[in-house]
Amino acid sequence: MWTWKDVDEYYLDSLADQFPALAKYIANVGAIHSKPMMAYLTYMSQRIVEMHRILKNTGSLYLHCDPTAGHYLKLLLDSVLGKNNFRNEIVWCYTGGTDAKKTWQKKHDILYFYTKTDNYLLNPCHVPFNESTVRRFNKTDADGRKYKINQLKDGRITKTYMKEEGKLAPDYWNIPIVNITSKEGTGYPTQKPLALLKRIVLASSNEGDVVMDPFCGCATTCVAAQQLGRKWIGIDIEKQAVQVLIQRLSDDAGLFKDFIATDQIPKRSDIKEVQPSESVKQRLYKEQQGKCNACGGDFEHRNLEIDHIVPKSKGGGDYYENYQLLCGSCNRIKGDRPMEYLRLKIETRERMMKHKVFFGE
Ligand SMILES: C[S@@+](CC[C@H](N)C(=O)[O-])C[C@H]1O[C@@H](n2cnc3c(N)ncnc32)[C@H](O)[C@@H]1O
Ligand SMILES: [Zn+2]
Repeated sequence: MWTWKDVDEYYLDSLADQFPALAKYIANVGAIHSKPMMAYLTYMSQRIVEMHRILKNTGSLYLHCDPTAGHYLKLLLDSVLGKNNFRNEIVWCYTGGTDAKKTWQKKHDILYFYTKTDNYLLNPCHVPFNESTVRRFNKTDADGRKYKINQLKDGRITKTYMKEEGKLAPDYWNIPIVNITSKEGTGYPTQKPLALLKRIVLASSNEGDVVMDPFCGCATTCVAAQQLGRKWIGIDIEKQAVQVLIQRLSDDAGLFKDFIATDQIPKRSDIKEVQPSESVKQRLYKEQQGKCNACGGDFEHRNLEIDHIVPKSKGGGDYYENYQLLCGSCNRIKGDRPMEYLRLKIETRERMMKHKVFFGE
């Protein structure tokens, strides 16, 4: 069950600046579905906004979800990526024994396929023809190629060869789920089939491209990307995922030789670390023209304090780019929290001040 412990509620307010309709939609989901769904959509929008930001212009985004929230996420994707960048709803069909009596057997999941722009890559993907189609190509030539004879109305006879590569893949994919006892099975509870991820990686990237899975579980996407010559980034919050991943990497010895497993937030290599100091403060004071970076008030140098924009507890580093000057009052309110929180507090305070009735005036 999702709660506001999984995501800061004030993120929804900061989302309203950039995506007002999306923030309204999420608030309405709170009424239509539930508060946990609202918290989940807020949490997901935070991630989808960032994924969209770092996606290159020719890139694609695939989102997989079960029916609990899939259709709610579809609208979120429409808002962030743009409804015109929605390309397909892919139905991933599988089999396996279930015995539901009060519903149809649940044997598919949905993947939403979006791109960043109209200028995107989609390498053709072929699948074998249906058996009935294959049966129609009932002749074989001297080279072993299958063909069929067509009798035209005007009496002529022509030949059609069966395409050896198969037919272009439709938007429903028959791919078996991972059997826990199979060679592929890692024991990770939500493991996805390698064939599913390979199809996506092959279709929507070329060798050397970067593939990222921010919920990578036991690293199926990373394995698919590695085997297909792509660069990859995988992220997962679960300790168990990291353990299975390390196991998988060593099982695939030869495939992966150099990897780093860390639960530390990576340090940026493109900018230099610098400790907060008087000279840093003076530089910031000049840049901010003596104003508090939050409330905008004018302050003397001694009344402003150096603050980390992204708090250190949330991965913000000692970089000049991550410093700002705040007045004492703003700094106290912000504490160890992100800027969105402080901005929201300032806005609320300003709103209240505007409507305040001063007796005796
Ligand atoms: C449906 S599974 C993905 C499975 C993956 N495709 C595989 O083949 O193993 C979702 C994953 O998201 C991870 N997760 C949940 N919340 C997360 C977060 N905030 N950041 C990163 N990963 C998270 C879970 O630990 C889980 O492994
Ligand atoms: Zn201030």
